[in-house]
Amino acid sequence: MCGIIGYTGPLSAKEIILNGLTQLEYRGYDSAGIALCMESSYIRMLKKTGKVSNLKEASKQIKEVSHSGIGHTRWATHGCVSENNTHPHQAGRVTLVHNGIIENYHQLICQFGLEKKLKSETDSEVAAWILDSFYQGDPAEAIGRLLPLLEGSYSFCIMFEDCPGEIYAVRSVSPLVAAYTHSGALVASDLTALIPYSRQYFVLPEKHLLKLTAYSAKVYTFEGREIMPEIIEADWNMDAAMKHGFSHFMLKEIHEQPEALNQTILPRLTDGIPDFSQDGIPDSLLKNCTRIQIAACGTAMHAGMAARALIEPLVRIPVTVSIASEFRYEEPLIDKNTLVIIISQSGETIDTLAALRLAKNYGSPTLSVVNVKGSTIARESDYVLYTHAGPEIAVASTKAYSVQLAALYLLSCRLAYVKGRFNLDQAKGFTNKLLSSIPAMKEVIKCKNEIQAIGNEILSAADIFFIGRGLDYSFSLEGALKLKEISYIHAEAYAAGELKHGTIALISPGVPVVAIATQERILGKTLSNVKEVKARGAFVILITKEETEISPGLADVIFRIPQIEDRFTIFPIAAVLQLIAYFVSVGKGLDVDQPRNLAKSVTVE
Ligand code: G6P
Repeated sequence: MCGIIGYTGPLSAKEIILNGLTQLEYRGYDSAGIALCMESSYIRMLKKTGKVSNLKEASKQIKEVSHSGIGHTRWATHGCVSENNTHPHQAGRVTLVHNGIIENYHQLICQFGLEKKLKSETDSEVAAWILDSFYQGDPAEAIGRLLPLLEGSYSFCIMFEDCPGEIYAVRSVSPLVAAYTHSGALVASDLTALIPYSRQYFVLPEKHLLKLTAYSAKVYTFEGREIMPEIIEADWNMDAAMKHGFSHFMLKEIHEQPEALNQTILPRLTDGIPDFSQDGIPDSLLKNCTRIQIAACGTAMHAGMAARALIEPLVRIPVTVSIASEFRYEEPLIDKNTLVIIISQSGETIDTLAALRLAKNYGSPTLSVVNVKGSTIARESDYVLYTHAGPEIAVASTKAYSVQLAALYLLSCRLAYVKGRFNLDQAKGFTNKLLSSIPAMKEVIKCKNEIQAIGNEILSAADIFFIGRGLDYSFSLEGALKLKEISYIHAEAYAAGELKHGTIALISPGVPVVAIATQERILGKTLSNVKEVKARGAFVILITKEETEISPGLADVIFRIPQIEDRFTIFPIAAVLQLIAYFVSVGKGLDVDQPRNLAKSVTVE
């Protein structure tokens, strides 16, 4: 949420920062700005509302060369979308960009008498003015005085007028990564902005000071002691973050799923069953837990819902799934025998991180399922199960969801095995069926035209309902979320049997209902619910298996996935729902990859 970048080095700071902002744009795209330290030592600022492309266009007017600067792409929190509220913010000799929220900003305005000085409505500018008031020529000293005053989460990149070529950065919770390369020194909110220059990077430790010069990227404690951060090697390169001929990142990422699934599953199989010894996850962790608590947000939470529907009947232990932003303020019933599973693509979602920290306070062992290597959640968890989706650029999550499901299925299988619910043959059988769901997903992806035609049927809908039972209900939740995110159509997911307890009042002639009916054990029940909405004139889109018999007239459109066992319909169903949402968004001419109001990495509460 908000992307920030700083660069100093021999190359054109303007080009590097603008390109970095393009890479970071998925973190927020309400407005963007840069501040460049010009050769004549003054700081030139440029801000534009809207996309980074607006800023890029406007920046053509900057002809003078610069070798250091900072940039920001904003997801508005304090104050509307306007040029005044766009970062960077300048206060006296200080120019800074900020990601996060300073919760006590109002109190600080009063404490430092800033009412008349502020030009924007942002909390960030407040920090800039306080910093300027503390600054007496020693950046580290001034920043060190500022930080104890700030409540909330933040990462800052800061320039001081009289320190040309130097960039300072500091963080609390909100992430920052940095690298020193032959092309200069860089710091950014995430790796996507650094990867064109270096695959080696480090995470700036919280409440440490990063100082970038053209020749170095050094980290200090606020007592002035230099520390050597651990260097991490990225397992992907710039190529993975390109569109490669696809019209949108989302479509590309949908297509990448089979490969990402193989990369997540295959290296973890020994003798045909899941084995986490390479991940450092001991069997005792799984064997000893008597219950599981899952906490996550958004799509990751839906992956957790699917895991619950799988694990409870399979392993016969209670599984609770919580929305992380709720969980973090609860008094959860967890203890040292509860395995807390934290799911996050980015590994930085602030509510999810807080849920992890809460679980640790309760003494529960924590295991995170994370896609981004070295992210805060990954580093703070007791155990990490990395998914290998590579970079996910589209804001609406697709491949990250599938690999989360894959990791959770592997975990469930091992859990069943170590707890004696599966013998070796049963564990092998489960794993084989999981693998056979991958080609089934490929088959579905090949049916793009058919799915586009389904999408075209619902382009003008105002409301859409998704229904299903059991695992299908968890898929419905994700299908509805995907559609809402990128098509702006109101979509709601309901457990099929629950619809008649109120919501069915909203079904009027022509209202689309996407019914997912792949769970054979409860197929008859689900199909009865479909009949109920059909009887009220719904336009029914039924997603079911190849061999399921459907009576004539039950559905207006039927999409069939390959015939696979109930528990393993996950990947093909995910692809159908993702593609429906994708084609509706395309059909409505919307911004598929950067839908309004959203951001990929939500680092504010
Ligand atoms: C945001 C994204 C969603 C994502 C959620 C959790 O809302 O737009 O796509 O599912 O955050 O993100 P995480 O990185 O923790 O999986």
